[in-house]
Amino acid sequence: MLAIIGDAAEAYRGVIPADCWHDPYMSADALRSEMAAGVVFTGCEIKGALAGVMGIQRVRNVDLIRHAYVRSASQGRGVGGLLLNDLQARTTRQTLVGTWTAATWAIGFYERHGFRLVPEMVKAALLRTYWTVSDRQIDTSVVLAAPELTDADAHRLIGGS
Ligand SMILES: CC(C)(COP(=O)(O)OP(=O)(O)OC[C@H]1O[C@@H](n2cnc3c(N)ncnc32)[C@H](O)[C@@H]1OP(=O)(O)O)[C@@H](O)C(=O)NCCC(=O)NCCS
Repeated sequence: MLAIIGDAAEAYRGVIPADCWHDPYMSADALRSEMAAGVVFTGCEIKGALAGVMGIQRVRNVDLIRHAYVRSASQGRGVGGLLLNDLQARTTRQTLVGTWTAATWAIGFYERHGFRLVPEMVKAALLRTYWTVSDRQIDTSVVLAAPELTDADAHRLIGGS
């Protein structure tokens, strides 16, 4: 999993703000602590070798899609789509995903799977409610929702959590 994440996260190098980049992008300890915090991963193998991983995390009244990574050699062949469909089939709750504003390919990927960007006015409140992120990461991230969330929906969601 760490090899897949390290390889796939190369897509961020030079694209996301330099102060947000880490090498390795995710350490073994960070991955373990994400699992301990309830992120459940699904994986896709091609000919017996892991090609992609994607996680889902139940937080209060939503499910978050977390850590979506397909190895670079296998991107664009539908692996990410299969993983996302698999996770979406496991939830009937409001689903949210956060990604870097600069990761335009990831935003497009989620939009093609029915996610919609949340209004900018509620983005920070959602990130603070459902994720543990720095102010810097809030400034440089977007949130997408499936189904789509209006301002009022987002406030109701946060109030109900
Ligand atoms: C974002 C990511 C997880 C998507 O996974 P993926 O396996 O590349 O996604 P898919 O192949 O399902 O879909 C991506 C594209 O491949 C196309 N595709 C799907 N099946 C295909 C197939 N059989 N043959 C060719 N292309 C195909 C999709 O239509 C889509 O094309 P489009 O972007 O032109 O619409 C992956 O690209 C990745 O790891 N990127 C780097 C890290 C990252 O950005 N992660 C997101 C963190 S939130």
